[in-house]
Amino acid sequence: MELSNITLTKRKKISFCKRLLVSPRFYFGCVVFQVFILAIFVTKKNTNNGDVMLVIKERKIQEEIFNNTVENCLLFNTSEPQPKIECPIISPYLIGHKKPDISDEFSWEDTLQKYSSVRCGGHFRPSNCKARQKVALLIPFRNRYVHLKIFINHIHPFLMRQQLEYGIYIIDLDDEIQFNRGLLLNVAFLEASKEYDYDCYIFHDVDLLPENDYNFYRCSDLPRHMSVAVDKHNYKLPYVELFGGVSAMTKDQILFVNGFSNKYSGWGGEDDDMYNRLEFYHMTVFRSMEDISRYTMLKHAQSPPNPNRFKLKSTGMKRLRQDGVKNLKYKIMKRTDYPLFTYMKITL
Ligand code: BGC
Repeated sequence: MELSNITLTKRKKISFCKRLLVSPRFYFGCVVFQVFILAIFVTKKNTNNGDVMLVIKERKIQEEIFNNTVENCLLFNTSEPQPKIECPIISPYLIGHKKPDISDEFSWEDTLQKYSSVRCGGHFRPSNCKARQKVALLIPFRNRYVHLKIFINHIHPFLMRQQLEYGIYIIDLDDEIQFNRGLLLNVAFLEASKEYDYDCYIFHDVDLLPENDYNFYRCSDLPRHMSVAVDKHNYKLPYVELFGGVSAMTKDQILFVNGFSNKYSGWGGEDDDMYNRLEFYHMTVFRSMEDISRYTMLKHAQSPPNPNRFKLKSTGMKRLRQDGVKNLKYKIMKRTDYPLFTYMKITL
């Protein structure tokens, strides 16, 4: 009895297999499965090709923009005489909102020609009036040459239209050391302030392009968070404590809170830590309206977030006095004044 049961089950299985092999649905399923596997393979191959193409492009643009040194620009002398009359509070050259051009398909030679009034190291001062503020733009950098090209081409005319006196500092870290935005901004602040008596320091990510020149790049009595509305976040502020992207502080405000923490290696957290520092000292963050503080973010692969950032943040206020701009040791490996920006590479 038991034996015949087993035979029956076997027979059923065989007949099921036979039916399956002649079923058009089975073959259709197989084809769909194969197409699915092929699609995964092709996507992966394209992604790899895309990565290779990007590396080649980054190299090409690096050569293009790091090719011109001081021979091609006029030196900047801080003590040069300048007009006595102050520039107007609102510059007559402002154009308002304009979506930035994000193409990198333009000649760097043309950019250098267009902005030949910029002095070596990316310094500029209006010729017909005395700027109301001297502003240092501090840009932490790693390997994003395509973004740098687009950013520099966009930011010079933007700042010129605001009739500012300014200098642009690109700060890079030894390739052997993990990227650290807070630390790089601290170094950039120290180096820029040694060089010139700036009234305002703007911490600026290289992938953010301001859209509206009524978004004034200057400091006020309160620290400012400027990149309020970014296209990537549908032009909405993601959370109230955000201080990342673009923000502005005076020298006194920076020194008062001991700058950024130097402990946040990798992506994220250093700006939230700065917000906590400001809150700790009862310094309110000022923000302009969303329809003016608009930014376009250039596309890039998201860096992996630092998993320790939450722990660091929770203990941040205990370290505040020992961890910041006043307790930082570094060495400058390289410094070059290019025609449209100053570039520094540092190590620890
Ligand atoms: C990170 C910040 C970052 C923000 C916006 C937060 O989770 O800690 O560093 O600026 O996200 O992307």
